Amino acid sequence: MGFAVHYRTYTCGELNKDAVGKHVTLAGWVNRRRDHGGLIFLDLRDRYGLTQIICDPERSPEAHTVASELRSEYVVQISGTVVSRLPGTENTHLSTGSIEVVAERVEILNPSRTTPFPINSEAIQVDESLRLKYRYLDLRRPTMRDNIILRHRVVKAMRDYLDERDFLEIETPILMKSTPEGARDYLVPSRLYGGEFYALPQSPQQLKQLLMVGGLDRYFQIARCFRDEDQRSDRQPEFTQLDLEMSFVSEDDVMSLIEDMLIFLIEKTTQKRIKERPFPRLHYKDVMDRYGTDHPDLRFALPLVEISDLASAGTFSVFRSALAQQGMVKGIRVPGAGGYSRKEVDELTDFARTLGAKGLVSLAISANGDIRSPLPKFMSSEEVQAIIDRLEGKPGDLLLFVADSAKVCNDVLFRLRVKLAERLKLIDPEEMALCWVVDFPLFHYDEEGKRYDAEHNPFSGMDESHIDRLDTDPLNIRAKQYDIICNGYEIGGGSVRINVAELQRKVFSLMNMNDEQIHEQFGHMLEAFEYGAPPHGGIALGVDRLVMLLADEDSIREVIAFPKTQSAQDLLMGAPSPVDDKQLQELHLLLRPEEKR
Ligand code: AMO
Ligand code: AMP
Repeated sequence: MGFAVHYRTYTCGELNKDAVGKHVTLAGWVNRRRDHGGLIFLDLRDRYGLTQIICDPERSPEAHTVASELRSEYVVQISGTVVSRLPGTENTHLSTGSIEVVAERVEILNPSRTTPFPINSEAIQVDESLRLKYRYLDLRRPTMRDNIILRHRVVKAMRDYLDERDFLEIETPILMKSTPEGARDYLVPSRLYGGEFYALPQSPQQLKQLLMVGGLDRYFQIARCFRDEDQRSDRQPEFTQLDLEMSFVSEDDVMSLIEDMLIFLIEKTTQKRIKERPFPRLHYKDVMDRYGTDHPDLRFALPLVEISDLASAGTFSVFRSALAQQGMVKGIRVPGAGGYSRKEVDELTDFARTLGAKGLVSLAISANGDIRSPLPKFMSSEEVQAIIDRLEGKPGDLLLFVADSAKVCNDVLFRLRVKLAERLKLIDPEEMALCWVVDFPLFHYDEEGKRYDAEHNPFSGMDESHIDRLDTDPLNIRAKQYDIICNGYEIGGGSVRINVAELQRKVFSLMNMNDEQIHEQFGHMLEAFEYGAPPHGGIALGVDRLVMLLADEDSIREVIAFPKTQSAQDLLMGAPSPVDDKQLQELHLLLRPEEKR
C-alpha cells in the first residue's frame, strides 16, 4: 500500500536492536541471495550498508516466490518486520548485524543483467579497463564508495576551514587563453572566431593573482585543471586542485595556514598519525643530495650518500670513468641485508638497470665483518674502510653504489631507496610524513631550449637581496617557493609572487621571450601590476593525490569518480571520439587526410 508514496522508511545501514518489532520498508540492490531449500536469505545493499532479509515460504508465500526469482544486483523493495538474530548468528562486522528483517512483501523495481564482474566481492581482481567501462557498477563496491565519501569529507573540511578564515570561494573560467608555459594545453576551437582557440586552464594561476589585484584578499577554489601531459598513476589529464591565494602575506603565512589545515584534515578524516610536527622544512639542495628527488618519502631513513671524493682513490674503472665524465658516485646502506644471496643482489642490479643505471656495485659486510665486494681488488683496505665509514656500514649490512651522472645516480637511487624500504618493511601505512621543501632556485637552465626556465612558474617571487643576480647570476637566485610533500608525493606547491611589472618583465625576458611575445601572452598581467598590485602569494594542493594518500590507494584513479585511463581515454563514454563534418566545418577545422576516419 504505502509503496508508491515511500520507497523506503529506513536505509540498509540503519536498523539495529532498537528497531526490533518495527514494520519497515527498505529498498536497494540484491548483494547476495542464498537459497536454503525452504528459507531464502537476501543481503540487501545500498550506500549505507547491508541488511539481511529472510523470506520464509510458511510466513509469506508470495514474498518467497518473488525472492526465488531474484538475482544479484536486482533493485528491490522489501517490507517486513525487524527481528533479533538468533544468538550465534549475529554479525559484528555489520552495523545491522544484530537484526534481520522477515519479509512480508518483496517487489522487483528493476531487474539487472549479470554484471561483468562481481560487486559483492572485493577480493576478486578485476581488470581496470573493465572497471572503468562499467564505472557505475564499480562505484557500488564498498571500497569505491568509501573513497568517494572520503573525498567529499576532505573537500567539505577544506571549505569549512577556509570559510572560517575569511576565504572567498570564487569560480574562474574554464575557457581561457592558451599560454605556451608549462604543460601542453587542451584547446577548444572557437566557432565565432575562425582559426582561434580557447585553452582549458592548466591552473587558475593568473586569474587568482588578478583577484588579488582586485582587492578580494583571500581566494580559494576547488579548481579543475587540464594538462595534456604523459600520464602516470599520480597524474590525470584533468585533475582537481585546492587553489588558493592571499594578499599581504609572506612565505611563512601561507605555509603555516596550509600546515594547520592539513593537520585539521588528516585528523578530521582519518586515523592516521602525523610523523613530525611542525612539518620539517628542508632545503631543495639537501633533499636532492640526500634522497635523489625533491619529493622524498620521509617515513623511513635510508639516506643516499655521495662518495665521489673517496671513489677516486684506487683503480676501479667503474668509479673512475664516471668521475672522469663529471659524474658522481653515490651509495645507500641497506641495513641487515649483508646476507642477501647473489640472486637477490642481481635482482636489485637488474632493477637499477631498468631505471637507467649501468649496474650496481655491491659491498656486503658479513656478521663477523668479512667483506664481499669487487672494491678491495682495486683499492686499499683503508680506502674501502673510508667508504664503509662514510655510509656508516655495520656488520650485517649491504652497501650499494651507482656511478654515473648526477641525474642517473639520483633517479636510480631514489627509486631503489623506495623499493628497499618496501622490501625491508620499513613503511608504516598508518603514518603520514609531511615536509616542506624550500629554497628552490628561481630558474634552471634548459639545455635543449637554450634558455632559462622557471623552476615553478614564471610568477614566483625571489629573495629581495638576489634581484641583482637577474643580470649577473640567474641560476643562483633563491625563489620564494615552497612545495609540500607527503609520503613521497608532491601534494602541493606555491610561492609568494612577483607584483612589480618591471621585475616580471625581466623574468620573462630571461626566459627568452621578446617584448612582443611578452606583450601578447602576458600583457594583461604586466598591466594589472601597474595598477597597485598588492604583495600576494598562494599555493595549490593536488586534491586527488591528497585523497589518494588518505585513502591508502596507489593511484589517483581510485579516488576519482570517472577517471581517464593511463592513455587519457574515457572508456565509459568513449572519449575522445570523432565528430561530424558539420561540427568541424562550423569550427573552421579541416582534418589532415591521415587523421580522417
Ligand atoms: P603545480 O603545477 O605544482 O602548481 O600543481 C599543484 C599540485 O597539483 C597536483 N597536480 C596534479 N595532480 C594530478 N594530475 C596532474 N596531472 C597534476 N599536476 C599537478 C600536484 C601539484 O603539487 N598554479 C600553481 C600553484 C601555485 O603556485 O599557487 C600550480 O598549478 O599535487
Ligand atoms: P662490468 O665492468 O660492466 O662487468 O661491471 C662490474 C660491476 O660493476 C657489475 O656488478 C656492475 O653491475 C657494476 N657496474 C657497472 N657499471 C656501473 C655503474 N656505472 N655504476 C654502478 N655499478 C656499475
